[in-house]
Amino acid sequence: MNILVTGGAGFIGSHLVAALVHDGHRVTVLDNLSTGNLSNLTPVSSEITFVEGDILNADLVESEVRRADLVYHLAAAVGVGNIMTNPLESIITNTTGTEHVLRSCHRHSTRVLLASTSEIYGKTPKLPMAEDDDRILGSTAISRWSYSTSKALDEHLAFAFATEGLRVSIVRYFNSYGPHLDEKGYGSVIANFIRQARDGDPLTVHGDGLQTRCFTFVADTVRGTILAGTKDEALGSVFNIGSNFEISIADLARLIVDKTKSSSPITNVSYEQRYGTSFEDTRRRVPSLDRAREVLGYTPTINLAEGLDRTLAWWNLVHA
Ligand SMILES: NC(=O)c1ccc[n+]([C@@H]2O[C@H](COP(=O)([O-])OP(=O)(O)OC[C@H]3O[C@@H](n4cnc5c(N)ncnc54)[C@H](O)[C@@H]3O)[C@@H](O)[C@H]2O)c1
Repeated sequence: MNILVTGGAGFIGSHLVAALVHDGHRVTVLDNLSTGNLSNLTPVSSEITFVEGDILNADLVESEVRRADLVYHLAAAVGVGNIMTNPLESIITNTTGTEHVLRSCHRHSTRVLLASTSEIYGKTPKLPMAEDDDRILGSTAISRWSYSTSKALDEHLAFAFATEGLRVSIVRYFNSYGPHLDEKGYGSVIANFIRQARDGDPLTVHGDGLQTRCFTFVADTVRGTILAGTKDEALGSVFNIGSNFEISIADLARLIVDKTKSSSPITNVSYEQRYGTSFEDTRRRVPSLDRAREVLGYTPTINLAEGLDRTLAWWNLVHA
């Protein structure tokens, strides 16, 4: 197939592109390289077409979608810190840009997979988080919730286009990590901790560190993405793609210090120091994987210890 991957030079996108090339597809990547990096595509660069451009350019999106049999839409402004620094640009990218992709896919009857996020659930105390659960968000004065809200609007748009005939499925990623994580960290606490451990800097744990996340190795993230993007049973549905390897952020910091044999101390930084006063965090984030297992046959296969070893090997910090 001819497959278009928006955001294909990014962390998850580049692994997805490699998997699709490996499966024998002709892949085009559309990416503006704002947070992505061409070096992520080096292993497949001779086998893909790379188009440097923006999903806000509706004509460009239209011409690329026209040539595709299937679209994976991953391009987005990503990461809480990034979104809080550039709220306006982030919201427009994540809503108008997605509208361009969905509209072109609808016009050309092209199937599309939309990448959404566990941030959708906000600060709900209900666990595990299941796809049809209520979303609980804070005030619009707190800019971190704009990411959740813009991705929710994307999901609504996708479902609305589906009522007009668009073949679409949606995945909500839960904290993916692995090789190609940008070392500046953007949305990834794992990338931040590894960089800090490598450089001998303090690992900065936000708040009391007892907040938990379920980290998902990127190979599992990509497998779930392809299943949701191709299975007929996935059409019109949304799926959590995550893991059940729950760990507190404080324990994660200790694990990374141990694995890297770093001399870095671990320090707690208040949310106010890091983000200003109007910040709210999600205490625990645990996905229900029932729907993904039942409909897609997806289960995560790589546990946190193994996934971290593979990630650290890519950073040349351990031998996996
Ligand atoms: N990494 C995670 O744990 C995670 C969690 C939840 C959701 N997601 C979603 O997964 C997708 C991929 O995220 P990622 O972690 O690989 O982040 P990433 O920043 O590495 O990838 C995003 C890519 O989109 C590109 N991009 C951004 N704005 C663009 C624009 N206007 N036009 C064209 N390209 C643009 C970037 O250059 C980058 O290559 C995003 O939609 C993100 O919201 C990721």
